[in-house]
Amino acid sequence: MYKESPVEVSQKEITFKVEELEPFLSSPQLDMATPQPCKIELKDGSTMLIREVKDKEIPMLLDYVKKFMETGAKDFYDIVGARIYAELLGYLRNRLKDPYLFVGAIDGEIVGFANGRVRDKDLNISLHTMAFKRGLRIGATLYYRKLVYAFEEQKNQEVWSTFESYNGLKRWGIGMAQPSYPYPEYQHELGGARVFYVDQQYWNAAVKDYVKEMVGNELDYDVEDELLEKNEELVMP
Ligand SMILES: CC(C)(COP(=O)(O)OP(=O)(O)OC[C@H]1O[C@@H](n2cnc3c(N)ncnc32)[C@H](O)[C@@H]1OP(=O)(O)O)[C@@H](O)C(=O)NCCC(=O)NCCS
Repeated sequence: MYKESPVEVSQKEITFKVEELEPFLSSPQLDMATPQPCKIELKDGSTMLIREVKDKEIPMLLDYVKKFMETGAKDFYDIVGARIYAELLGYLRNRLKDPYLFVGAIDGEIVGFANGRVRDKDLNISLHTMAFKRGLRIGATLYYRKLVYAFEEQKNQEVWSTFESYNGLKRWGIGMAQPSYPYPEYQHELGGARVFYVDQQYWNAAVKDYVKEMVGNELDYDVEDELLEKNEELVMP
């Protein structure tokens, strides 16, 4: 955009360092809680560690989810893969506000991924969850971990979700009997879809037992060093 200056100026051009511009484009981090690692025994007897994604793991996650965009739409893995790809880049390039990323790992292999972001002190936005190994309710557990993070660690008041797939709707929308806000007055940031939500009261009254009912076990935060070490260097399945 161009407009004549209303006064005489001593410099006709003013330049900026990119370091001066970056604060306008990056989001300042709020006071986010650091998620603690936890573990859970799955129905086949294996132990899944859930911990934050390390920066060095993002390139292999990008390569992996990219494949879903190329291999097709079965179970909506393509659209969810594409959106996770963008969110991983958003995290790497610092173009997401207060993101958090979890992986589930079994014996050094990444079996699932879940992410979200803290919109403000009250509202936590669930972004995506993906199971790389099917049939063990890994995705169900990883989404639940996001709710624990929001309600117990961040002390947010609400989590907003939306669902692209029947499996996601079945697992968490129907599975947790989540209410939804009037549509289209309220829209989720993922494509303007319906907002399903859990708030603190509903979390405490109804959702806390979800993973126990689904998996038969609770998340356990007493994680031995041996399990952390076993899942220190992860590979994709
Ligand atoms: C949604 C999702 C995370 C749920 O993961 P999950 O809880 O681990 O559950 P799965 O998808 O593996 O399995 C769902 C059900 O179908 C069965 N199933 C489906 N495909 C299966 C497969 N290939 N092998 C074994 N079981 C399968 C499972 O046994 C399970 O049955 P259950 O409800 O009795 O446990 C996962 O389906 C996924 O990653 N989908 C693609 C991405 C997506 O849709 N994300 C959510 C966006 S809203």
